[in-house]
Amino acid sequence: MNIIDFKDNVFLLSTKETSYLFRVDKYGHLEHIHYGPKVRMEDWDALSLKHKILFGSTVMYHERDDIMTLDSVAQEYGSYGQGDFKEASIEIEGNGSYTCDFRYVSHEIVEGNVPVKDLPSSYGAAQTLIVHTADDINGLKLDLYYSVYPEEDVISRRAVLINGSRKTFTLHRLMSYCLDLFEKDLVMMDFSGAWDKETHLNEKELKQGTYTIGSRVGFSSAKCNPGFLIRRKDTTEDHGKAWGFNLVYSGNHYSSVSKDEYSIHRIQGGISPERFHSELKAGQSFETPEAILTFSDRGLNHLSHHFHDFINEHIVRSDWKKKERPVLINSWEGFGFDFKKDDLIRKLARNAVSLGMELFVLDDGWFGRRNSDKRGLGDYNCNIRKIPGGISSLSSEIHKLGLLFGIWVEPEAINVDSKLYENHPEYALWEKDRPPFYGRNELLMDLTNPEVRDYIVDNVSRLIDDNKVDYIKWDMNRMMNAVSGEYNHEYLKGLYDVLGRLFLPRPWVLFESCSSGGNRFDLGMLCYSPQIWSSDDTDPIERIDIQKGLSYLYPLSTMGAHVSQSPHMQTLRATPLETRFNVSAYGCLGYELDLSLLSRLERIEVAKQIAFYKQHRHTFQYGRFYRGDQDEYETFEVKDDETMITKFRRIVHAVPVYDKLYLHDLDDEKVYRIESKPYLHNLKQFGHLINFVSPVKLNSEGKIVDTLSKIKGMEASIQTYEASGAALKSGIYLNNLFLGTGYNDNVRIPLDYGSDMYEVKEIQ
Ligand code: DGJ
Repeated sequence: MNIIDFKDNVFLLSTKETSYLFRVDKYGHLEHIHYGPKVRMEDWDALSLKHKILFGSTVMYHERDDIMTLDSVAQEYGSYGQGDFKEASIEIEGNGSYTCDFRYVSHEIVEGNVPVKDLPSSYGAAQTLIVHTADDINGLKLDLYYSVYPEEDVISRRAVLINGSRKTFTLHRLMSYCLDLFEKDLVMMDFSGAWDKETHLNEKELKQGTYTIGSRVGFSSAKCNPGFLIRRKDTTEDHGKAWGFNLVYSGNHYSSVSKDEYSIHRIQGGISPERFHSELKAGQSFETPEAILTFSDRGLNHLSHHFHDFINEHIVRSDWKKKERPVLINSWEGFGFDFKKDDLIRKLARNAVSLGMELFVLDDGWFGRRNSDKRGLGDYNCNIRKIPGGISSLSSEIHKLGLLFGIWVEPEAINVDSKLYENHPEYALWEKDRPPFYGRNELLMDLTNPEVRDYIVDNVSRLIDDNKVDYIKWDMNRMMNAVSGEYNHEYLKGLYDVLGRLFLPRPWVLFESCSSGGNRFDLGMLCYSPQIWSSDDTDPIERIDIQKGLSYLYPLSTMGAHVSQSPHMQTLRATPLETRFNVSAYGCLGYELDLSLLSRLERIEVAKQIAFYKQHRHTFQYGRFYRGDQDEYETFEVKDDETMITKFRRIVHAVPVYDKLYLHDLDDEKVYRIESKPYLHNLKQFGHLINFVSPVKLNSEGKIVDTLSKIKGMEASIQTYEASGAALKSGIYLNNLFLGTGYNDNVRIPLDYGSDMYEVKEIQ
């Protein structure tokens, strides 16, 4: 298969299951023809939009061509001033004119990628096509880059603008890509939310008009992830056409989908044009971040698999690429700022070892005067009152216990109450003729200043190297206020410079990015950090939606997912330990609670969970993930040589519907055994029913039951089923749920927020 073909002015980019087709028209414009299932190059004429007459009041491109208007031509990159009135991909002003008319000059095809200057980008492409275009009148040149990843069915796009004139221009917008798509009945799926409510699926049916998503808060943001999907109305998880888009960028972003009067959908995305005005002097150029595009006609699960494979193979770097991630214990939710070294060792680390955990992470509060979030950021001196002997002594004790050692930092921020601020107030970022605006009591540091970047690199390098740090959690907790769009972009370039200098030379360090949870869950950060803290919301029921939303765009290997205390500290909801594990298992498992408070029974359960997770870790982190959409319960399924499938219940009804288990991607002819994962029910959940099995009458609210429930549980019935792949794909009925009319070993216990995980194995 040729990956990039060019014949008779037509370009064909081919991946395993998709084709991308465009051509140079008679005027030199790049006309988009097709992005979808595989087609032949010769099909270009049949596939292209027909424009054989001029429409109504449209503007003719050429005075002697009375059928040609660019308004009804699908384009590879939209610009303004020559008859195309769709939203432009470029907005640049010189001498009062916004007109641009880029026409084909030449092209080149290179092996591999051409990295983006000063920004992270994907690697390992098969080939890259660079199409050079130019506007002869204003002297601007525009290069469009297309990198092809055949195996993952991904095409990445970006643009580079070069000022080839002698004038200075002001650039207001330069999108990474533009895709003019003609399809009926489209729905946009974006992943929006807030702090603690990240990546909630948000669907909009597209009508004539423009729908935009984006961020103006300085980071990619929990308000709206840069990744989104477009699907046909009838597309489901397992059937139908869908397109996926994402940006390799962590700052202010923008994407728009406009449907015009001819039902052409112009889809584009890139750096947010809001308050963006960059001077482009003679000879200067501007490079956009890279955009990732994918297509599937086999449903949303399959579309997500393209993203997952692509990220694991072409975005994530370091020694941790495709490597199993350690089970961690994090100090934050259990201890906050209030800990002493003794607590860390006795309550967390020793228990972590005995429960089978592998990585100890000391979160916020270890440095300067940081006993609350009001002070200390910017300083790196260990608080000896909390940790006598300093970080190196803690690290060596942790290592002696057989755990890896990790530590939290928030290097982009500064507290006014810090030694750093006393010495360098100029490092802080705010409009100096106004009072500062604080976020979580902190200011950001000016990462466009090379001295600030050096300060961070020096201190974090020393922290890692002097203390044998194996893992870094890099946090960032406030929005960026009162800056221009191009400042935000320069800040991002500064951040990427710092991350590159710190982590590329230290590939053994496992770097987990975090931004008040998932405020910066994006492909830019994933180029440096193989995993990202998904959300500060660790309530498992909320997490189902968050992790499900993330799974449309990102693989499980990138999602930090922790079991925390119940009732949950934010929702105050009590949930079974089993469900807390069952959600977190679909990701990089961690625990974030005071382990010394676990009851004897909970300790037994946690140890079993960790052993189980480790045994199946490769499947949980790197298996094929499927979202179920066929029954009323949420289903997570992950498949490698084995399958782990979990059904999550939310609210139990007295008369439950029959529920089925549907599996994906099994061999029709083969026979499989399905067995539920064993776990213990807490006796207290049965209330006075406990007296049906107890030889003596017990008060279900009393001390005896309370004490008993900490040492003894009731084993959940083990369900086993056997069926062919064909039957499992069509769905098998599960045993009945308990409804108060009796109980035996084949009855499943429901429970609000309960869940059951099943292991599916082929029978030899
Ligand atoms: C916000 C993070 O998301 C939390 O996990 C924790 O690290 C706190 N910051 C610490 O201040």
